[in-house]
Amino acid sequence: MIDFHTHILHHIDDGSHNVEESVTMLRMSFAQGIDTVVLTPHFRRGENSIKPWLEERQLRFEQIRDSLTEEDKKLIPRMVLGAEVEFMPDMNRWNYLDRLAINGTNYIMTEMPFTPWTESNVKVIDDIALNTPFTPVIPHIDRYFHTFTPVKYIEHFFNMPVIIQMNAIYINGVHNTQFYKPLIESGKIKILGSDCHSAEWRQPDLGQAVERLKEVCSDEAFSRIDSFGREMLRDAVYQDL
Ligand SMILES: [Fe+2]
Repeated sequence: MIDFHTHILHHIDDGSHNVEESVTMLRMSFAQGIDTVVLTPHFRRGENSIKPWLEERQLRFEQIRDSLTEEDKKLIPRMVLGAEVEFMPDMNRWNYLDRLAINGTNYIMTEMPFTPWTESNVKVIDDIALNTPFTPVIPHIDRYFHTFTPVKYIEHFFNMPVIIQMNAIYINGVHNTQFYKPLIESGKIKILGSDCHSAEWRQPDLGQAVERLKEVCSDEAFSRIDSFGREMLRDAVYQDL
């Protein structure tokens, strides 16, 4: 299984605190059956400029890579660089979306506001989806289920060329089965992520969600999620170790 949403790179956002923690998180993921992780540190245009941020992302990766032992290399997932891009009202017009997309692909993770979405928010994502080469990935859709975001906007994205990602923590909540199962079975949830931030709290937990899905969902729905993710990363550029 692929983990599409991680904060494993250290010291670039509120994720991993140091190289050792990053390696621990990678090894935890692999031990849970995760063979590929997309590294998605937060990009917030209010705080970050694109060029220094990309340089920092590369540096953090290289620091992890340089610390890996030969044994580590056999016990960690493949890695591909990406970003979790905070929603901005003009992001559909940025000329550097390609540099924030999952490396080698046209998929870009756009983190929607945590305030109730508006018609104009939705139109920005629609514009990226329909009028640019990029396909938005809406992360942790589960976080918006129980807020004041109008359900019609969530349902709108289910019917758009937009990829919807769900977090493992929601699937791991036993009382949530009734909510996520129909979305998984109908194919509305396309991909999964742990959104892990640390080896201690918000740790990699996608393996547990995979086991849960195998229990409660059909084999067909489960394998559709796995194969959809692999198709998304067909042209991805993985990081050399
Ligand atoms: Fe995240």
